[in-house]
Amino acid sequence: MQLSKELSAIVTGGASGLGGATAKALASHGVKVSIFDLNEAVGAKHASDIGAKYYKCDVTNEASVDAAFAASRKDNGVERILINCAGIGIAKRITRKNKDTGVIEPHDLASFTKTIQVNLIGTFMMIAKAAAGMQTLTPLNADGERGVIINTASVAATDGQIGQVAYSASKGGVLGMTLPIARDLAQSGIRVCTIMPGLFLTPMFDTLPDEAKQSLAASVPFPSRLGHPSEYASLACHICENGMLNGEAIRLDGAIRMAPR
Ligand SMILES: NC(=O)c1ccc[n+]([C@@H]2O[C@H](COP(=O)([O-])OP(=O)(O)OC[C@H]3O[C@@H](n4cnc5c(N)ncnc54)[C@H](O)[C@@H]3O)[C@@H](O)[C@H]2O)c1
Repeated sequence: MQLSKELSAIVTGGASGLGGATAKALASHGVKVSIFDLNEAVGAKHASDIGAKYYKCDVTNEASVDAAFAASRKDNGVERILINCAGIGIAKRITRKNKDTGVIEPHDLASFTKTIQVNLIGTFMMIAKAAAGMQTLTPLNADGERGVIINTASVAATDGQIGQVAYSASKGGVLGMTLPIARDLAQSGIRVCTIMPGLFLTPMFDTLPDEAKQSLAASVPFPSRLGHPSEYASLACHICENGMLNGEAIRLDGAIRMAPR
């Protein structure tokens, strides 16, 4: 599809980082952009900076998601584009030794469940609800295209590191559902792709000292640096525009293959 002011898009996690850059890139093509994010202060400011609209939304809460869809569709019409960028990361091994007691403790269920809820179930819920809306729209072109959905997994979906069990499980789920959902929606003319980013300089890395950022950058074969969110955004826009991209997960990682740690 041709990006233009005729289209509307929802970007989850669009307040910052990869989603923030994608919301900006889509808005720069004239697309009516709805940012769905938990972070009201940052989301509303970013939306106003780029000419988008902000809707407070927790992708793990169905009532919150339904309210955001209803408000966005009222303002911008039914979305032709959904970009799923909302996500969280945690670092915990499957077991750990309690420093105080010396007892070996299993990974807690709460943080595993939370990670799956945000990254996998949140993505699933957004896709199902957006697809139901897109199916009511008339096709845009001779291919019969109605819409496009882009998810964000991670290279951790396939090369999860030590301490990434919850995160990798959630991103592996996003990777695994890409093809079956593309197949489910093929007859409706809705494409589904997933981007698997490597290491991108976003607020997720804000807490890391410069030395650690440099060391991560040096681990990328070429180009030997962290990715810019605009590079993710540029791939997301390309996927929207390239009608043959469907059912595919694309690594965007400068050839990095993550080591165990
Ligand atoms: N930065 C990287 O190197 C990298 C690499 C691989 C994958 N990713 C993935 O890319 C996506 C974006 O990450 P980022 O680096 O831009 O991080 P980020 O923290 O800048 O952005 C994530 C956004 O998601 C929002 N969010 C979190 N939980 C939410 C919820 N329950 N409902 C609605 N919004 C919620 C946050 O408020 C935030 O604005 C994530 O899914 C992340 O796992 C990032």
